[in-house]
Amino acid sequence: MSCDVLTIGLAGLGTVGSGFVHLLSENKEELRARTGCDIRLKSVAVRDTTRQRNLPDGVQLLNDPMQLATDPEIDVVIELMGGIETAKQLIARSLENGKQIITANKALLAEEGACLFRLAEEKKAALRYEASVAGGIPIVETLKESLTGNRINSLEGILNGTGNYILSEMTSKGRTFDAALADAQEKGYAEADPTLDIDGYDTAHKLVLLIRLAWGVDYPYTEMPIRGIRNLDRMDIEFAREFGYRIKLLGRAKMRNGQLEAGVFPTLVNHTYLLARVGGAFNAVRLEGNAVGSLFLHGLGAGSLPTASAVLGDLVSIARHNNRLNSGFYQQVLPKANILPPEQACSTYYMRFMVKDDPGVLRDLAGALSDQGVSIAQAIQKGQSEGAVPLVFMTHEASVQAVSKAVDNMRRADFLLAPAICYRVMG
Ligand code: NAP
Ligand code: HSE
Repeated sequence: MSCDVLTIGLAGLGTVGSGFVHLLSENKEELRARTGCDIRLKSVAVRDTTRQRNLPDGVQLLNDPMQLATDPEIDVVIELMGGIETAKQLIARSLENGKQIITANKALLAEEGACLFRLAEEKKAALRYEASVAGGIPIVETLKESLTGNRINSLEGILNGTGNYILSEMTSKGRTFDAALADAQEKGYAEADPTLDIDGYDTAHKLVLLIRLAWGVDYPYTEMPIRGIRNLDRMDIEFAREFGYRIKLLGRAKMRNGQLEAGVFPTLVNHTYLLARVGGAFNAVRLEGNAVGSLFLHGLGAGSLPTASAVLGDLVSIARHNNRLNSGFYQQVLPKANILPPEQACSTYYMRFMVKDDPGVLRDLAGALSDQGVSIAQAIQKGQSEGAVPLVFMTHEASVQAVSKAVDNMRRADFLLAPAICYRVMG
């Protein structure tokens, strides 16, 4: 790789790819000053080469990304297409051919990243992925470099811009879920398949990557408990507010006596906490290190330029021949995490039951909970009508197992008129 000119091949010219191309020319002088290189974009691969594209003169448009992997002039391949199969092939073939890699593809790295990291180590190549977690927030390098003097005790965060945008719009403007999602798609925050955002999978992909960086262990994505915000009812946002909370989609991981407790859940966050105040497409990560104490990072988690900013940061690092470890740990194959069985996790809970407004229903509900050792801390009952009324509880700490059993038992009784709603409350 020549130091005077660094030649780039880019796969994908969508939201992030076009932001990258824009920044490359807008910040050209700064990039030269910081790297000592001229960064030259040689080729860009897209699916549809017939569409009009906004590219600098002389940049080649290709419809086969694999051509980037075999072009001997290209030093760095930047994968911003998304998806698993083609992206994986492109990265693997590019590494085989001695290229350095940058990607924003958290789904690929979380689900199938192990073999790519191994290949990159074998080839002594960079495989950089700052843009894959929390958009513009530099959390990957922070965990990989700046916080390595710490043992990390816990981390939690709002890691999906689309989900947070939807929740914020529903909470502050009373908008519907569908209208807010359509808006997030329009603004370029959402994944090509937005179920990844709203069902919590994107947050889980990012959490898997953060767990690797924080603890050097592999928490298999397929074993992670994941719940999204698809069916969130505005009624729960309102009740949560009455108790003094906001509902946020959180990814959380915590080391408890040598076991890792992790998962993705819609969670009630006390309105006075910083995480509760993170609005719109912003993301935030809060972590606890044994030396640094509590640390909070906040910034735009999705969108064209914030994400491209992270891609450019990786590019500068490669241009400076920064031979940092890609995974953050020397071990090529990370051991599997010692996972706390999800049913043993404990939390306080928000619960809403739609019930018949009949005598004895409150007693029966409270009985079903206390039979499993779930104790009620606060309760609200709203409305009086012939039909269903909501009964809302905040509980003291209880295990997932106890709460599930209590709700199962209620299903067998006849007083529940709709499935019970249970959300964790951040302690
Ligand atoms: P996008 O807007 O859908 O753009 C995808 C681009 O890749 C398009 O230019 C598309 O070509 C091209 N492409 C897709 N499949 C291809 C193939 N098989 N061959 C050649 N080109 C192909 O996606 P995006 O939002 O920029 O996201 C890209 C990646 O960044 C994803 O991994 C995503 O998870 C990640 N990411 C996105 C954000 C964000 O805010 N959007 C933030 C962080 C990370 P056409 O233009 O011809 O369709
Ligand atoms: N769809 C993702 C989000 C993009 O909304 O957070 C950033 O990773």
